[in-house]
Amino acid sequence: MTLVHLLARHPGVELAQLTSRSFAGQPYSAVFPLLDLEGTFRSEPELDGIDVVFSCLPHNVGASKAQAWLDGGARVIDMSADFRLKDAAQYPVWYKQEHPAPDLLGKAVLGLPELHEQELKDAQLIAVPGCYSTASILALAPAVAAGVVGSDIVVDAKSGVSGAGRSPGIGTHFSEVNESIGAYAINGHRHLPEVTQELGSLNANGLRVTFVPHLVPMTRGILVTCYFDLKGSLAELNETYMEFYADQPFTKVLAQSPTTKLASHSNLFLVNVAAQGQKAVVTGALDNLVKGASGQGVECFNIAFGFDRTTALEMPVQWP
Ligand SMILES: NC(=O)c1ccc[n+]([C@@H]2O[C@H](COP(=O)([O-])OP(=O)(O)OC[C@H]3O[C@@H](n4cnc5c(N)ncnc54)[C@H](OP(=O)(O)O)[C@@H]3O)[C@@H](O)[C@H]2O)c1
Repeated sequence: MTLVHLLARHPGVELAQLTSRSFAGQPYSAVFPLLDLEGTFRSEPELDGIDVVFSCLPHNVGASKAQAWLDGGARVIDMSADFRLKDAAQYPVWYKQEHPAPDLLGKAVLGLPELHEQELKDAQLIAVPGCYSTASILALAPAVAAGVVGSDIVVDAKSGVSGAGRSPGIGTHFSEVNESIGAYAINGHRHLPEVTQELGSLNANGLRVTFVPHLVPMTRGILVTCYFDLKGSLAELNETYMEFYADQPFTKVLAQSPTTKLASHSNLFLVNVAAQGQKAVVTGALDNLVKGASGQGVECFNIAFGFDRTTALEMPVQWP
């Protein structure tokens, strides 16, 4: 939903086809009543003349289709986990099946513009990172790259229910989640290998990350609270973050700890650096449907197709 709304207002985009198996044959207005879009949903894309495919399928579904889309001449921006990990051996561990197109893993560029802007310019296959991963990596990258982190990092993460997508399920049923909060995937969440892969590429000193997500009864938003032993002073750490993100349009270092509402409906990642003694406490917030998914996908598209990085992503502040 969010991706189509963003692309519909992009001045350089013509939405040539929208696909859906559930709505195949129905008009676009059945799903997007507020958009002035003419056409009917197809079950599969017709590649003739298509420059880019945005794939928003569940993991394990789009992986076997991507090669055909690339062969058809389209660049591919994949929102799922299918091409995020470089090591094919990780897929059976985290996604319970062999990767159907392991040769493509080396060609995929992780769609995190703060770290990979140059590679994204020529990328044919872009793997947009997960919502938790985006928040965790961006919250920790400056400190890890600067080598001021002790070996153990703890990430306490909280997400709104839209992080689980639109498909109904017991775990996201209103009466199950309303007025309740709980941790899940305590033994290891699928976004953890994305976080360790990216942080490991910034610093090879064998970091250990403990990542625990929580489901919070709100519609959208992710908050990560990251703890690590700090080498150096808090003032130096803050300066490190300010410098690292100085030229980034969507990542802002705040003097106050961010809230999910402050980032809501925007493509922003908001981060604050604090400490209790020598224990650093870095908090970061984003909207999982925008910077955590669709907005970041459009940001990658802008880079790959030569548009200004902020095109279609400058939103008015939504507060409260
Ligand atoms: N929600 C988030 O915050 C978020 C953040 C980052 C990344 N992502 C990732 O982005 C992707 C899309 O997320 P979402 O939240 O839009 O998920 P979603 O609401 O579950 O939508 C996925 C859609 O894929 C189609 N689909 C489901 N099973 C399928 C199958 N076996 N074969 C073909 N199509 C199938 C369905 O649409 P039709 O029936 O209409 O075809 C389904 O509605 C996922 O990989 C997700 O992990 C989500």
